[in-house]
Amino acid sequence: MSGTARTIEFDQPGGPEVLQWRTRPLAAPQAGEVLIEQSAIGVNYIDIQHRSGRYPIASFPSSLGIEASGHVLAVGDGVSDFRVGDRVAYIHLPIGAYTTHRILPAARVVPVPEGVPLDWAGVTLNRALTAQYLVNDSFPVGPAHVVLVHAAAGGVGQLLAQWATHRGARVIGTVGSAEKIALARAAGCHEVLISSDPGWVAACRALTAGEGVHAVFDGIGGAMFEQSLLALRPNGVLASYGTPAGPIPPFDIFRLNQLGSLHITSPSIFTFNKTTEALRARSADVFAQALAGVLRTDTPRLYGFDQAREAHADLAARRTTGSIGLSAR
Ligand SMILES: NC(=O)c1ccc[n+]([C@@H]2O[C@H](COP(=O)([O-])OP(=O)(O)OC[C@H]3O[C@@H](n4cnc5c(N)ncnc54)[C@H](OP(=O)(O)O)[C@@H]3O)[C@@H](O)[C@H]2O)c1
Repeated sequence: MSGTARTIEFDQPGGPEVLQWRTRPLAAPQAGEVLIEQSAIGVNYIDIQHRSGRYPIASFPSSLGIEASGHVLAVGDGVSDFRVGDRVAYIHLPIGAYTTHRILPAARVVPVPEGVPLDWAGVTLNRALTAQYLVNDSFPVGPAHVVLVHAAAGGVGQLLAQWATHRGARVIGTVGSAEKIALARAAGCHEVLISSDPGWVAACRALTAGEGVHAVFDGIGGAMFEQSLLALRPNGVLASYGTPAGPIPPFDIFRLNQLGSLHITSPSIFTFNKTTEALRARSADVFAQALAGVLRTDTPRLYGFDQAREAHADLAARRTTGSIGLSAR
């Protein structure tokens, strides 16, 4: 295979300014691999955590990114489930999605059905697979439940609100500022609270006649963790799935006893999608929900390939809503 790929790399941890654009030779896929000509690349919070050094990097220079979509450009020997031209997407570790072309094991790639926009799949699969396990495994959401979704105008947050509402649950959302309320409501939240308001926990409890919610989906972390616990009813479940506001402070497990036999889980998408079978089945569920209109496939915000620094800065500064990514075209 001749030609080159453009990649975004970094040589040491740091701010968005450490991202560098480089050209690398394009290799041919080996046995069991596919070469993907990428269309859209997801920009996720985990990318910021890798770039900043919060999550360690094995060696430098390093690429970045865990998800993308595109078309299969070539297949290696023995690959029978994909053909040249197929529409595909992936989430994958080790990192390396910030590139125009990517070689991956075919077993870690999923087909994107006709009708599901490729750009949406490329920047949403990670977040939608997260919502998928949160509403099915971390806390199986049903019509009898009241659930709280933090950052409900954000990427995972909007998908969670859409999915939980479809399940018949009553969904209370939080957002960081008033201008995000309309988006959270459009995603299905029945009530929306402003998380910077010191009275939001009391307001949430008042909305549930003082009982609290059955589950909190907390992708914020930091000081929000303790407030999330206070919003739960006895036997409630806190799914702490992200920490952009910082690590969870040291915690005495006896607090769970005192607050009413509460449950906490700190889940990872990679546990739920470890095998090819699980990844394909859960991705098929996500795409089925998209085709059914449960998950909205609005055109996502795509930054240019050369605007990765801006995308990182905007995500970290809470200036984005919904899922965002880079165009690889
Ligand atoms: N565990 C897993 O399997 C898994 C998988 C995928 C994603 N995640 C996590 O899910 C979370 C959401 O990811 P996303 O890509 O959809 O991001 P996002 O929700 O679109 O963006 C993060 C949002 O968090 C809120 N936030 C509150 N405090 C913040 C702070 N100090 N700094 C930055 N943001 C803050 C902001 O919303 P408001 O302004 O409305 O508060 C911000 O828009 C992230 O924590 C990510 O790491 C976890």
